Amino acid sequence: MDKFVITGGTPLDGEIETSGSKNSALPALAAALLTEEPVVLNRIPRVRDIRTMQRLLVDIGSKVDAEGEAVRLQTPKIACPEAPYELVKTMRASSLVLGPLVARCGRARVSLPGGCAIGARPINLHIFGLEQLGARINQAHGYIEAEAPEGLRGAIVHFDRITVTGTEDLMMAAVLARGETILRNAAREPEVADLAGLLRAMGAKIEGAGTSTIRIHGVEALHGAEHAIIPDRIEAGTFLIAAAITGGDLTIKRCNPEHVGALVAKLLQAGAEVDQPDGETLRVRGAVSAPGRLRSVDVTTEEYPGFATDLQAQYMALMTQAEGIALVVETIFENRFMHAQELARMGANIRLDGKQAIVAGPTPLTGASVIASDLRASASLVLAALVAKGETVIDRVYHIDRGYERIEAKLAQAGARITRVE
Ligand code: EPU
Repeated sequence: MDKFVITGGTPLDGEIETSGSKNSALPALAAALLTEEPVVLNRIPRVRDIRTMQRLLVDIGSKVDAEGEAVRLQTPKIACPEAPYELVKTMRASSLVLGPLVARCGRARVSLPGGCAIGARPINLHIFGLEQLGARINQAHGYIEAEAPEGLRGAIVHFDRITVTGTEDLMMAAVLARGETILRNAAREPEVADLAGLLRAMGAKIEGAGTSTIRIHGVEALHGAEHAIIPDRIEAGTFLIAAAITGGDLTIKRCNPEHVGALVAKLLQAGAEVDQPDGETLRVRGAVSAPGRLRSVDVTTEEYPGFATDLQAQYMALMTQAEGIALVVETIFENRFMHAQELARMGANIRLDGKQAIVAGPTPLTGASVIASDLRASASLVLAALVAKGETVIDRVYHIDRGYERIEAKLAQAGARITRVE
């Protein structure tokens, strides 16, 4: 298993480019199942979750050709409409094939995900939505079996709570359903709007994606298309925090500044300087060594456009270096504070109380051996290590490889002392 060895204390300086969004690319790959014609996706990030999804699609019957950042997919026939436990347990987003499979061939068998490191993460809302569209659902032996031999029909689906992949799954099911589907209390994440863009390019009729009400008029069939994935806002946000925590001067290129608006607002309040030289670039200068220092600022995670839960762990690392007390409240997942104990082992002063973490700073951090527990928790440990005195060894970096493309190379390019040890 690979490890990262990081020596802290160097402010980041230079330029980093973001990759395409992992959480946009995953549903886009699944959407290719909706047509027998070729779908070409550009700016696909080269991360492990994407390779896992491609493997699943090959098992289902797709021909997948990846070259650099471009992936060409074609699924003339669904050979096996199934997502087995072995894949779903390593990547929960595998359940994104449920909607497209039922829509395309009238049946799907998808393993139930089970618990994970950040919370229970059930898929009951995906199932509820498909039932509204007329699918018959049977649950047995740890699998969900969905059937709609006569095809799906449009319906009103009012989500009990906001779900990102649930909204995406239902949107993909509804594009081939008879009649109109209205998704209410839908997720407004940019990844949902990006998926709608791809589906429209494939001939789907969708309005309102990016708002909480999405209207879909089912069509007879979809055709092939070419589409570029949006920049990864969580990767961009991680680099913004890396600049702020090291007191560096970093320019982040090929990002969408609007998508990280909630984080930028917090960084400005904390005393970092953030400029937007153009529509796809952000420049951050940290305030650690400046007379003002970083100030503690409370944060509560929310659905988009609120503060992303996927940046909470990284933000907590930042708050260990800020002056004062910061309250970090996690409202999306029930168990997303695994990084707090590891940060504490490096010297952070963090108290957990149910949904909230109370971070007192600034505390000097020192390098230690720490273990990555999930994707974003690992990123927060990397950020802490960048300012810790001495050497930090982060074990189980396969978690970080699931969602960050060559993070060590990108950070090293901006002066970080980080190496991967195999
Ligand atoms: N939920 C239910 N029932 C459902 C679906 C969700 O109760 O059927 C609950 C979840 O347990 C959670 C909340 O609703 O408490 C929100 O979950 P959501 O469904 O929105 O999460 P997701 O779609 O499984 C995506 C991202 C996550 C990100 C969340 C929240 C992808 C592939 N994954 O997950 O990304 O944290 O939205 O924004 O898009 C990551 O990249 O590190 C990551 C975990």
